[in-house]
Amino acid sequence: MIQRSLGPRSVSAVGLGGMPMSIEGRPDAERSIATIHAALDAGVTLIDTADAYHLLPGEVGHNEELIARALKTYAGDTANVLVATKGGHLRPGDGTWTRDGRPEYLKEAAKASARRLGVEAIGLYQFHRPDPHVPYADSIGAIRDLLDEGVIQLAGISNASVEQIDLANRILGGRLVSVQNQFSPAHRSSLAELEHCTELGIAFLPWSPLGGIRNAAELGSRHAVFAQVAADHGVSPQQVTLAWELALAPVVIPIPGASRPASIQDSAKSAELELTTAEIAALTAAV
Ligand SMILES: NC(=O)c1ccc[n+]([C@@H]2O[C@H](COP(=O)([O-])OP(=O)(O)OC[C@H]3O[C@@H](n4cnc5c(N)ncnc54)[C@H](OP(=O)(O)O)[C@@H]3O)[C@@H](O)[C@H]2O)c1
Repeated sequence: MIQRSLGPRSVSAVGLGGMPMSIEGRPDAERSIATIHAALDAGVTLIDTADAYHLLPGEVGHNEELIARALKTYAGDTANVLVATKGGHLRPGDGTWTRDGRPEYLKEAAKASARRLGVEAIGLYQFHRPDPHVPYADSIGAIRDLLDEGVIQLAGISNASVEQIDLANRILGGRLVSVQNQFSPAHRSSLAELEHCTELGIAFLPWSPLGGIRNAAELGSRHAVFAQVAADHGVSPQQVTLAWELALAPVVIPIPGASRPASIQDSAKSAELELTTAEIAALTAAV
């Protein structure tokens, strides 16, 4: 698969999002492992997860453990796979997502993630979401300490504004390598952050790049231009969507979620799908 830069690392242009394998509607572990193996077979070398991708209170890190298991049982070489996890979000078990951006919490959470992933140092650790009760600089200060202490190899942030990107990069001494924000045909409010990352050469990872777990299947019926371009190429509207996101800037690395091998197999092909300048313009202009 075509590669893109994520800090000093080179990863597949399309990654895999692990969330659908661990939250509401998740499949059994066997299908999840098959899905992760299918991603690896397709050349995916970036897997996104979070300690909060679980359902019940007692199973924090459900998705991290799945990924660790899938990597361990994979027959091929996994040395170049970058697992990107996150901390700062929690799921108390009632379906809600809460936040904890306290430095002492983040430091413990990162160490617990490393243990679950079975690594000495986490490949990429992302601060999941700003906590309104904790100064952003304090949370990012914890991420900087984790970098300096070698608990994590690379640092990223998620759900961040342009101002927070600049603040985080300053606190990290220019070592911010990625920003993960929501971006899809239906959700384009992070275009300013995407453009800012492009200027700074920081990887931009669109989350819910197909519109989210509940909406991904309807992408073609909700976005006629995407469906039309897909029909012209004889591919799925989901593939066109990911190819369009990739075409927006060289720093973009979408992380489509999947809970079935066929989904990530199809999504991975988007890295090779070439859209014309006119198609990209039409997709960008489409609402
Ligand atoms: N940082 C954050 O705050 C945040 C928030 C949300 C998500 N994320 C990350 O972003 C990742 C992606 O977002 P998401 O999973 O919420 O939504 P998404 O990627 O927009 O949609 C995921 C769904 O799309 C379906 N799908 C994937 N590829 C497909 C294809 N080629 N054709 C048809 N259907 C396809 C999958 O169906 P099947 O399940 O049937 O395979 C999956 O359930 C997450 O997994 C997670 O890692 C981060």
